Amino acid sequence: MSRTIAILTGGGDCPGLNAVIRGVVRSAILERKWRVIGIEDGFDGLVGEPRWRELTLDSVRGILPRGGTILGTSNRGNPLAYPVEENGETRLVDLSSEVVENFKRLGAEALIAVGGDGTLKIALALQEKGMPMVGIPKTIDNDLRGTDVTFGYNTAVGIVTEALDRLHSTAESHHRVMVVEVMGRDAGWIALESGIAGSADVILIPEIPFDLNSVCDAIQLRKSRGSKFSIVVAAEGAFPAEGQKVVQVTEAENRGVERLGGIAAYVADEITRRIQIETRVVVLGHVQRGGTPSPFDRILGSRFGVKAVDLIEKDRYGRMVSLQGRLICDVDIVDAVDSLNRVDPDSGLVKSAEALGITLGRPILR
Ligand code: F6P
Repeated sequence: MSRTIAILTGGGDCPGLNAVIRGVVRSAILERKWRVIGIEDGFDGLVGEPRWRELTLDSVRGILPRGGTILGTSNRGNPLAYPVEENGETRLVDLSSEVVENFKRLGAEALIAVGGDGTLKIALALQEKGMPMVGIPKTIDNDLRGTDVTFGYNTAVGIVTEALDRLHSTAESHHRVMVVEVMGRDAGWIALESGIAGSADVILIPEIPFDLNSVCDAIQLRKSRGSKFSIVVAAEGAFPAEGQKVVQVTEAENRGVERLGGIAAYVADEITRRIQIETRVVVLGHVQRGGTPSPFDRILGSRFGVKAVDLIEKDRYGRMVSLQGRLICDVDIVDAVDSLNRVDPDSGLVKSAEALGITLGRPILR
């Protein structure tokens, strides 16, 4: 019997979203002759008059190497706490019942939600209200539990590593310290892994509040050994042991989402002030999220899409697809969003970085 299923992409975009959409559409249509519809702009597309489109084999042709998402996305407007303007004031309203009703009107049996922590928490709440959901883990930050890795992360690490390679030559020519700010709000995976791959000298992550003395000592030590330049990689969520995260736009000013940014400038200024070495700041920002996905993310995204359709065929809802080792499995969405996947400061990965001579800014015991 032919079935209709729906898919949406929520939260910040990331490379590999189109690979997932294509994987879902091709396996649903080619293997099962099902119908697939795409909801536009994440859960926003189910608020008010639903915004959706038919997804055919033609509509996903050629999208595998394309960055972004053909469906659009939104990392604002959570339907469980939707901002509504009234008499010049913003009130948060629960629109989940409207979303469930709108979804029923579309005639789809199940919804595949592709997203990070925020999107999957919404999916879980809607599942509890009777909307059959399957989740697919996405985020360049790699901070979701329940899977070895999210898709999009591998591409981001590749982009940052290439940038670090390029910055080495200019840092060396000018005897400068380059301080590179990368994404990673609560988890420092991108900074840590690209820092190791790109031969950084200092890596600052949110999980290890840093000591500027230790950062400056590392740079001085390199100089005394003949390396007059250094590369510092700082996750946007890194902060000094005696300070806090640098916020660019507050939660209240930005519809409920705090925007981080500025830690690299702070660290660079402190280095120049304390040890009089010339610094430059590079903020990689959304370059990390844009452009074509790596082969790894194309394959992972495609496999995730295929697995999500399998789960719907077996009526296994409330599940999230996941990579475990080399296998594509599934876990309860609850277990994925329970807490964030953060770097363990005592892990083998961190120890390897330190064994390679990289400083993670741990306080120096003098
Ligand atoms: O969640 C992924 C992420 O890239 C974070 O690392 C970053 O803080 C945030 O999204 C930026 O979001 P926006 O696109 O709204 O600036």
